[in-house]
Amino acid sequence: MIGPNPNEKYPVPGNTNVQFIRNTITKPNIIVGDYSYYDAVNGESFEDQVLYHYEVIGTKLIIGKFCSIAPEVRFMMDGGNHRMDGSTFPFNIFGNGWEKHTPSLEQLPIKGDTIVGNDVWIGRRATIMPGVRIGDGAIIAAEAVVVKDVEPYTIVGGNPAREIRKRFSPEVIQELLDIKWWDSDIELISQYIGSIVSGDMDTLRKMKQHP
Ligand SMILES: CC(C)(COP(=O)(O)OP(=O)(O)OC[C@H]1O[C@@H](n2cnc3c(N)ncnc32)[C@H](O)[C@@H]1OP(=O)(O)O)[C@@H](O)C(=O)NCCC(=O)NCCS
Repeated sequence: MIGPNPNEKYPVPGNTNVQFIRNTITKPNIIVGDYSYYDAVNGESFEDQVLYHYEVIGTKLIIGKFCSIAPEVRFMMDGGNHRMDGSTFPFNIFGNGWEKHTPSLEQLPIKGDTIVGNDVWIGRRATIMPGVRIGDGAIIAAEAVVVKDVEPYTIVGGNPAREIRKRFSPEVIQELLDIKWWDSDIELISQYIGSIVSGDMDTLRKMKQHP
């Protein structure tokens, strides 16, 4: 085994805050790739940070590989949205006859799956709203509220999150998206870590040539 075991829940010995998310998930509507980690404050589970994610709604949270998710990041999911075509008060949840006004799924504002790419860094206390798609290599600044899709290798911040800057030229971004280093086997990734973290494109091009 090279590097940490991707099947470990707590890959850093003696530390129950840093969690490989995939190995902590109990819900079928959350799908997470290898090595993506959540850094908890007090040992809380990543799932605790995914709010209003009711299976009956049917939308999913999908996160790629090698993502870094900082403490107190929150994913708001579709189940948190009230009807907005009239009163927003959820009479139905109080029962006693009001349950007959339970809205159908069609009457709720459903935004769809939330999708995070690979090698995405989400800063502390950022909030990701329902249905947002965040591209590979993006960075979400601390405290951002992300309400719209984020292009690959783009830094966004603020509330509502706006583009701060692109991380690389359009040509380099396209190359990185073609290389997809995160899909290589872990032996090859380990061999090329120095170039992956330094953005050494000349060497990364050689990585791409491996079968
Ligand atoms: C976004 C971040 C990565 C810095 O990126 P950068 O490109 O080096 O940004 P700079 O510091 O040069 O600032 C560039 C602009 O972004 C703005 N900016 C930086 N951080 C921001 C934030 N968190 N929210 C909103 N705007 C932010 C700056 O004010 C500046 O704006 P201006 O161009 O109008 O002056 C960093 O600020 C950040 O938020 N990191 C997350 C840290 C974290 O949460 N770590 C947790 C442990 S993993």
